[in-house]
Amino acid sequence: MNLQENISLKSYNTFGINCKTKYFTECFSIKEITEAVAFSKQNNIPFLVLGGGSNVLFTKDFLGLTIKINSKGIYTEKNDENHILVTAQAGENWNDFVQHCINNEYGGIENLSLIPGNVGTAPIQNIGAYGLEIKDIFYELKALNVETLLEEVFSLKQCKFGYRDSFFKNEGKGKYIILSVTFRLTTKNHNINTSYGDITQILNKQNITKPTLRQVSDAIIHIRESKLPNPKEIGNAGSFFKNPTINTEQFNTLQQKFPDLKGYENANGIKISAAFLIEKANLKGKRFGNCGIHEKQALVLVNYSDATGQEIYELSQHIINIVNKEFNVLLQAEVNVI
Ligand code: FAD
Ligand code: EPU
Repeated sequence: MNLQENISLKSYNTFGINCKTKYFTECFSIKEITEAVAFSKQNNIPFLVLGGGSNVLFTKDFLGLTIKINSKGIYTEKNDENHILVTAQAGENWNDFVQHCINNEYGGIENLSLIPGNVGTAPIQNIGAYGLEIKDIFYELKALNVETLLEEVFSLKQCKFGYRDSFFKNEGKGKYIILSVTFRLTTKNHNINTSYGDITQILNKQNITKPTLRQVSDAIIHIRESKLPNPKEIGNAGSFFKNPTINTEQFNTLQQKFPDLKGYENANGIKISAAFLIEKANLKGKRFGNCGIHEKQALVLVNYSDATGQEIYELSQHIINIVNKEFNVLLQAEVNVI
């Protein structure tokens, strides 16, 4: 096991927070991941699993062992006439994996193009975008039980996926490390879904009526690049907050005030846009010292220049307070605050 001590995690988190970890190890195989967990247990050192660092906010140094997941490999197995099972190791980069699937004409995953992070992290919050969540293409995953150091297989049902939620964010938190994920994708007769936002409009502009997987992916990448800041240029972790679900009464009250507020019904009420509320609270594009709220997407908090995690955390609390005071809606963080 390659162990480093007292290193900065600045280049390992997309917010670019300059915090330190006491111990650090990069794992390139399941064996190395297992060894790292065994080491931490033997020496009574807490551990933190890190993928691409695109959904974490470090508010302090981590005094334990950071286990950076870097295991690679993609395998396929025929499922039926129209489907293939594609398995990727946890350390594969998510978008590289999506592009690999598209290059091989495996369909169903293209709407999740350009989401940062690792394949192994994707199930943690059931990543989603442009009308698709990984639960829609998920087959099973393998995870290391950190207590027994044995591998366990999780089915779709066992993962308890919800909106930006899963078993691994709740009962399973800290108890498992995801080692590989298997998706069930189409090999022909793809279900192309271009109904979200501007996808169809962008394709129409190019006179594309029957888009290929690649054309859908390109259109989504184009939209994402026009709205979301690139973490290589400006530190961020995507949407900082989840979109809240409110009850019908609350929705009607808010809609009277803002007739352009859109609502999407789900089993628990009506989901609304958190970005809309933040924008209506006049916070969009505002800068607070070294950090702020992105000018094109009010859900995204950004690190302008060497902000500390604490500063960004305090800004997030400020936004929660203002939105709660003005609209009586309590926003919840999507990002994992450490
Ligand atoms: P990390 O930040 O490394 O880890 C996140 C959490 O998972 C941590 O708590 C970590 O301890 C834990 N973890 C990591 N790997 C494992 C593992 N193998 N086993 C167990 N626990 C683990 N998300 C969306 O859903 N949709 C989007 O459209 C989207 N757009 C984004 C755009 C930008 C510009 C950015 C920066 C982020 C965006 N995100 C989006 C959020 C982020 O990309 C996802 O949450 C992604 O899955 C995080 O992966 P990661 O490997 O970087 O996770
Ligand atoms: N909107 C505003 N102001 C803004 C941005 C958006 O009012 O600054 C409103 C508009 O009405 C717009 C609507 O929100 O039509 C939806 O905007 P967008 O398509 O950008 O989606 P979002 O709800 O802001 C969610 C996800 C993103 C995902 C996109 C696309 C959450 C928390 N965020 O954002 O995921 O990429 O949809 O599907 O659900 C992430 O999780 O990190 C992330 C970036």
